[in-house]
Amino acid sequence: MRSNYCGELSENDIGKEVTLCGWANSYRDHGGVIFIDLRDKEGLVQLVCDPADSKDAHQNATIVRDEFVLIAKGKVRARGEGLENPNLKTGKIEIVVDKLIIENKSAPLPFVINDNKVGEETLLNYRYLDLRKKSSYDTFRLRSKATIAARNILDANGFLEVETPILTKSTPEGARDYLVPSRVHGGEFYALPQSPQLFKQLLMIGGFDKYFQIAKCFRDEDLRADRQPEFTQIDIEMSFVGQEEVMKISEDLLKAVFSACDKTIQTPFNRIKYKDAMEKYGSDKPDLRYDLAMVDVIDIFSRCDNEIFSNIAKNKHHNRIKALKVPNGDNIFSKRQMKGFEDYVRKFGASGLGYFQMKEDGLKGPLTKFFKDEDIQELIKVTDLKVGDAVFFGAGDKKLVLDYMGRFRNYLAELMDIIPDDVYEFVWVVDFPMFEVDEGRVKAIHHPFTMPVSLDCEHVEEIESIAYDIVLNGTELGGGSVRIHKSDIQQEVFKLLGISDEEAKEKFGFLVEALEYGAPPHAGIAFGLDRLMMLLTKRGSIRDVIAFPKTQRAQCLLTSAPSEVDKDQLKELSIRIREQKKV
Ligand code: AMO
Repeated sequence: MRSNYCGELSENDIGKEVTLCGWANSYRDHGGVIFIDLRDKEGLVQLVCDPADSKDAHQNATIVRDEFVLIAKGKVRARGEGLENPNLKTGKIEIVVDKLIIENKSAPLPFVINDNKVGEETLLNYRYLDLRKKSSYDTFRLRSKATIAARNILDANGFLEVETPILTKSTPEGARDYLVPSRVHGGEFYALPQSPQLFKQLLMIGGFDKYFQIAKCFRDEDLRADRQPEFTQIDIEMSFVGQEEVMKISEDLLKAVFSACDKTIQTPFNRIKYKDAMEKYGSDKPDLRYDLAMVDVIDIFSRCDNEIFSNIAKNKHHNRIKALKVPNGDNIFSKRQMKGFEDYVRKFGASGLGYFQMKEDGLKGPLTKFFKDEDIQELIKVTDLKVGDAVFFGAGDKKLVLDYMGRFRNYLAELMDIIPDDVYEFVWVVDFPMFEVDEGRVKAIHHPFTMPVSLDCEHVEEIESIAYDIVLNGTELGGGSVRIHKSDIQQEVFKLLGISDEEAKEKFGFLVEALEYGAPPHAGIAFGLDRLMMLLTKRGSIRDVIAFPKTQRAQCLLTSAPSEVDKDQLKELSIRIREQKKV
C-alpha cells in the first residue's frame, strides 16, 4: 500500500508523490489547515491537509483522532524557513495531502503512548499499544539483529540448529517444573523443559558434533527483574572439546552479537576463580565495573581483645572476618551514616557491621581499643588505608558474611554512584565446586551432568568441577560445563547427590543408557538471551526485552493467563480440582 516509510523521507524526496501508511500520532487544527503527525515504524512525518489543496482530504482530516489508521497520498515539499522542526528527523519537510483514507478508527487510548508515568500493569494490559513506542520497536529491532548475528556466526562455525521437544520429561536445572497433563495417558504429565540440557547431550551422542538452538525454557521459580517463567537461551553443545573451545566460541559469539548492535567489546575476557570471586567480592557474579574488594583479616582479629571476634576467628574453616575498604569513605559518609549501614546488612542476617576511619592521627573507630598497636598497623597495611578512607568489617559464618558483604559492596557502589554505565565488564568465573551442602543435603551447583575434576576428595564440598559462568556487569549471563560422558562417573555423581539407582533410572535412565553406547567427550554453554538484551540495551528488567512478558506473579495480563478451564476439559484430562488455591 505504501511507497515510503514516514521516518525515512528527507529533503532528497522533495517534489515526489508518495503514499504513506501509519497511525495519527497527533493532530492540530490551525485555522482551517489540519496538521497530522503520521507515524510508522521508522518515525514521524507531518501531513498538511489544506482545503485549498484538497477539500476531501481536509474533510476527512477533521474527524481524525489519535491512533486512527491512515493512508495518505500527497507530495513532499520543503517546510520553508522558520517552519522547520529541528527535533524531528523529517523536520525539514512535510506532505501536502491530496487524498486521505481513514482505514480504521481507534477508541480513545487508555494512556498516552510514550508517557513515562504510566504504571507497568496498564502497559502490560495493553502491551500492543506500548509496543507502538519508538523505543519498544528499537529494542526489538536490536533483539532481532542480535539473534540473527548469533545464528550466523554459529552457522559459519559449523553448528547445526536443532529443535528439541517442549513436551518432555523433567530436566534437572533445579527449579520447579511446569507440567502439562496428558489426555491420552490420564494421570500422567509432560514437563516443559527447564533447558534442552539432556537433549543436547543426546545430540552429541547422536554424532551431530556441534549443536545450537535459540531455545525456549520454562522454570517455575520466584521472579525478579532478571527472571521470567519462560525465557530464551542461546544454547550450545560441542563434541571432542574442552572448556577452552567453548570459551572461545562464546567470546566470538558475544563479539558478533554486540557488533551487530553497534557495540565493540574486547576479547578474551578476564577470568576469576570461583573461590577468589567469593572471597574478594562476596559473589559468584561479581560486578567488576568498580574496584571495591574485600581482604581477609581473620588472623589479625584472632589476636584482638574482644571475645566475640577472637571466638569467630578460632574457626577459620567455617567463619570469615572480612574488611571492605572504601577509598575516601570517611570523607563521604557521616558517622551516623556509617552506623546506619548496619541496618542494611542486618536485613541479610548480619549481627553487626564494624568500621574504622583513617584520620590524620591514625585509625579511629569503636573497635580500635581491642587491638594492639602493631595489629592496628597491620590492619592499615593489609587494607592499604590512606587518610580519609573508611573500612567496614563483617564477621561470622563464612556463607553469611560473604553474602551480606557482597551485597553491601554493591549497595555502597550504587550509593556512591561509582558504577560507570557505559562499560561492558565481562568476566569468566571458573573452577566452580561441584557440590554445595545445604541444610545437610548435597546439591549440584551447576547440574548433575557436570564433569568433576576428580571425585577423590575427603569432603564433597572440596570436589571441583569443570564448569564456568560468564558474568556481565554483575549479572550471570550464561553458564556451562564439560559434561560427564562416562556412565560410571555419572552414576557415582548421582550417588553423591543422594539420587538412588531407581530414581536415576526413572528420571534420567535414557541418558545413563545412552552414555553406554559410545558417548564422545562433550561440553557446552547456554546464554540467557533476554538477559543479554537487557544488559545490551541498558534496560532495568528483562520484561522490557520480551514482547509479551509475564508479571512478577507469572501472569500474562494481556491474555489473562493462567485462567480456569472448562470442567469438561478437566474431565478429559482426568483432573479434579481439589481446592482453588489463590496465591
Ligand atoms: P543455567 O541454568 O545457568 O544453565 O541457565 C543459563 C542461563 O539462562 C539464563 N536464565 C534465565 N533467564 C531468564 N529467566 C530465568 N528464569 C532464567 N534462568 C536462567 C541465565 C543463565 O545464565 N543447561 C544449562 C546450560 C549448560 O550447562 O549448557 C543451563 O540451563 O542467563
